[in-house]
Parts: sequence; C-alpha cells; structure tokens
Amino acid sequence: MARALDNTAKWATLMVLATLGTALTVATNPGFVVTISQEGLDYGCQQGIAVLQKKLENINLPNFSGSFKLLGKGYYNFYSLKVLKFQLPSPQLRLQPDVGLQLSTDNNNIIINGKWNAKRGFLKAGGNFVLRVEGISISASLKLGSDPTSGHITVACSSCRDYINRVSLKVSNSKWGWLIRLFQKKIDSLIRKLLDNKICKILSNSVNTNLQRYIRTLPVTSKIDKVADIDYSLVAPPVATADSLTLQMKGEFFRQANRSSPPFDPPVMAIPPGHDRMVYLGMSDYFFNTAGLVFQQAGVLKWTLTNSTLPKRSKFHLTTSFFGKFLPQVSQMFPSMDVQLVFSTSSPPHLVMEPTGLTFTPNLEVQAFAVLPNSSLASLFLLGMSMNAHLKVSANSDRLVGNLTVDRLLLKLKHSNVGTFPVELLQDAMNYIVPLVAVPKVNERLQKGFPLPVTNGIQLRNLVLRSYQNFLLLGANVHLG
Ligand SMILES: *[C@@H]1O[C@H](CO)[C@@H](O)[C@H](O)[C@H]1NC(C)=O
Ligand SMILES: *[C@@H]1O[C@H](CO)[C@@H](O)[C@H](O)[C@H]1NC(C)=O
Ligand SMILES: *[C@@H]1O[C@H](CO)[C@@H](O)[C@H](O)[C@H]1NC(C)=O
Ligand SMILES: *[C@@H]1O[C@H](CO)[C@@H](O)[C@H](O)[C@H]1NC(C)=O
Ligand SMILES: *[C@@H]1O[C@H](CO)[C@@H](O)[C@H](O)[C@H]1NC(C)=O
Repeated sequence: MARALDNTAKWATLMVLATLGTALTVATNPGFVVTISQEGLDYGCQQGIAVLQKKLENINLPNFSGSFKLLGKGYYNFYSLKVLKFQLPSPQLRLQPDVGLQLSTDNNNIIINGKWNAKRGFLKAGGNFVLRVEGISISASLKLGSDPTSGHITVACSSCRDYINRVSLKVSNSKWGWLIRLFQKKIDSLIRKLLDNKICKILSNSVNTNLQRYIRTLPVTSKIDKVADIDYSLVAPPVATADSLTLQMKGEFFRQANRSSPPFDPPVMAIPPGHDRMVYLGMSDYFFNTAGLVFQQAGVLKWTLTNSTLPKRSKFHLTTSFFGKFLPQVSQMFPSMDVQLVFSTSSPPHLVMEPTGLTFTPNLEVQAFAVLPNSSLASLFLLGMSMNAHLKVSANSDRLVGNLTVDRLLLKLKHSNVGTFPVELLQDAMNYIVPLVAVPKVNERLQKGFPLPVTNGIQLRNLVLRSYQNFLLLGANVHLG
C-alpha cells in the first residue's frame, strides 16, 4: 500500500513537471513588434559607424623599435604614433539570417603620424613620419539575442576578420631617411602585425563592452504619467531574416504601483512584409487594451463636470432648475442648487482592430448629483451610456497620438433617486455635453500621446498607418533630429 502511494506521488510529481515544462515552452505573443528593413539598417549603420570611427581614431598605438645591420649594428625607434584619420568610406550592415547582423567595410584607410629616430655608432638621426595603411577590410558578425531577465537586446561580436592590403611609410626631415627606407619592407610587416587583430580587437571590444553596456542603460519601460508605464521588453530574441530584423516586445501598459497580469492574452499578429519604410511598428489590440485596463483600474478614466466648468457658451446650466424643466422632482427636492455630473467608464475601454478599421465602444456611466448648500452631494440618478466612437490613431515624431470622435449616444437609466423617467428627456443634454465637453477632455489626453519605443532623438517621419486583424501597422522613416 505504502509502495503504491509512493509511486502515485512520483507519478504526480512527474505529471506536474511535465505540465510545467509544457507551460514554459508556450511562446508569448508580443504586444508590440518592431520590424527594421534594410533601409532602416542602412540609416542605423551610418549613425553607428560615426561612433565607431571616433573610437578607431583613438586607438593607442605602441612604440616599436628594431635593429638593422649596415656596416655594423644600428637601432631605430618609432614613437608617438597617432591616428590622424580612420576613413571608413562604405560601411555596410547586412542582415545575417539566424545570427543577426553582418558588418562589413572595405577600402578603409588609416593615416598615422609619429616620430622616429635611428642610431648607429655615433651617428644619430630622427624626424617625423607618415604611415598610410590602405585597403583595410573588416568583416564582423554581430550576434543578436535577448536577455530573458531584463528583456534587453544583447549583441556580441561573434566573429571578426580584418585584412590590410598595403602599408606605406614616408619619413622626412633627415638625410638619414634613406636608411629607414632600406628597411621599409621589414617595418611595413612590423606595422601590419601591429595593426592586424588590433582592428578586430577594438571592434569586438566596442561591441561587446561599450555597445552592450550602452544598451543595458536603455530603459525597457517607458514612463507615461504618475499611473502607468509601458513595458517594451523583448519577449524573444530578435529574428533576422533576409529582409528584415524583427524585435518582438511585450507591449503592455502596467500600473507602477500595482502591476498585475491582464486577464487577456496578446493575439497573433500576422505582419505582412513591408518594404517602402525603414521601420514598421506592429501594435496589437493587446497594447491598447492593456492601456484601457490600467487607466480604468487606476480610476483615472473619470471626470467631473460642474456648472462652473461648463463652457461659457453652453446653452444650458448644470442646475437643479434646468433639470427641473423636464424632471420636476429634481427642482422640488433640491431647489436652486448646482448639479454635478461624474463621467466614468463602467468597464475598461476595449478596442477591436480589423482590416476595415478600429471599433471602439466605450461604456460610460454618468452619475448626477445635486450639490447641497453644505457642499455634500446628493445622488440624483445614474445613467448608462454607450456610443459608437471612432478612434483615429496616428504618430507624431516619437509618440502615438489619438483623436476620438463620437457618433451616437445610447442612454439607459440604471438607477434613480428622483423617480423613474423616460431617459430620452436627457438625450438632448447629453448629445450636447458629450461632444462639447467630454470628448475634448479625452482628446486633450490623447493628443499628449504615448511614447513609442524609439530612443532619444529619433523621430518618425513619412508615416503610413493601416489596420489589420488584431493590430495596427505603422510604417515610418527614421530621422535622427
Ligand atoms: C613611446 O616613446 C616615447 C618617447 O621615447 C615615450 O615618451 C612614451 O612614453 C613611449 N610610449 C609608450 C606607450 O611606451
Ligand atoms: C492591485 O490590483 C488588484 C487587481 O486590480 C486589486 O485586486 C488589488 O486590490 C490592488 N492592490 C493595491 C494595493 O492596490
Ligand atoms: C451656473 O453658471 C452660470 C454661468 O455659467 C451662472 O450664470 C449661474 O448663476 C450658475 N448657476 C448656479 C446655480 O450657480
Ligand atoms: C449636509 O446637509 C444634509 C442635508 O441638509 C445632511 O443630511 C448632511 O448630513 C450634511 N452633511 C454634512 C457633512 O454636514
Ligand atoms: C479630431 O477629429 C475631428 C473630427 O474629424 C477634427 O475636427 C479635429 O480637428 C481632430 N483633431 C485633431 C487634433 O486632429
């Protein structure tokens, strides 16, 4: 019996492990996808190479010395070597399927200057020299990955080759220059040795240390306001194909104070290949719906309208006497008082994306209060309000912005402390208030926008936006401004 139990326990453990294993291998769909085309890489390469060039121009070159035999033994020294120019005329960053990126650059030149001296017996000479190292080729593989803990992209130089075609040395300022020229071949090969590997070492080091360290300082979340952040961490390693580099990000809004998993999952996004923009941003409905959820949970999707905040040009006042015109109980029970309307969302706003466009059907509640002389509020009635809303999403430079318009309001009386009444009586007032006051309030926030996962200084231009099943696709060219 005990033995049977033991086995059961073992089996149970195995089953649990098996399920865990399965659960862990289920891939998480991204909520936000960034696809970078070759054109995008070309632009990125130009910017990145400028940084690498500075780095290479700061190479520290060691002194070197040697000896020669010419009617006795002599010695020479080359010192104070300084890179004057490191020309990288045609760098190319290409996609390397399954690895990441391939950086290659040909016909690079280095111009180095410095000082030399030579000695044989009592004879001494010295001067300046200019060294040209020409036809350098560099080819390096940059392996891209993701750090599963932090969600950062990782980059490592997985292989690097460099090749030097020609070295030429010109010495000046000495009648002994001919002596050095005699040993030109020897010195050339010495310099070659000196630089060989050095270029790859610097490149690998720049990538593995400097670039990697820099990437780690980039935030994977974007702060929006006091309430919410957006999580742009990678959910999978970047995918390089022959056409594009794809970054799959979480794309989830969350509350700083109290992060919890949304009760829905990101859908699959079937992103069509795009070629005429540098980058494409695929924004899942999940991305937008976690926003709705977070702001709803934080209780910020709520605003109060009072008589005094009504626009001056309003054709009615928020007073009990105004409401008394069609709901006599209101002015009888609460004579000559202000009325306050509190708008809130009764469920998180939910956006549906389809090839035909966005459907947005927010459900609002409007709670009406009479403001008593001692400033306490007396509840009058609660309205349910559904509507056909159109949300136009666009981007301006580095933020996602929106514009909401509302078609038709559908009112429902949910509760009343002033007797039941036909809700149509309020239709005119709401048809007037919502587009005039509520919608501009929402648009004010939507125009402030939400940050897109682009690093500082990058602007998106020439935007194209299309709606697909479950996601929006924004194509843009990138500009460093
Ligand atoms: C190179 O030689 C110069 C002159 O002899 C000297 O001042 C300098 O410290 C040397 N540099 C290195 C890195 O040895
Ligand atoms: C955190 O959020 C959950 C779900 O929205 C809620 O049940 C819980 O009360 C919240 N806790 C705090 C401290 O706000
Ligand atoms: C409501 O506001 C209007 C001006 O917008 C004002 O004339 C009116 O006196 C106010 N009513 C009350 C009861 O405060
Ligand atoms: C305000 O006045 C109402 C009615 O006169 C009363 O019921 C309520 O308790 C008062 N509230 C406060 C905070 O004094
Ligand atoms: C929002 O849309 C409305 C109606 O189409 C338009 O009148 C308004 O100018 C738009 N606002 C912005 C900021 O684009």
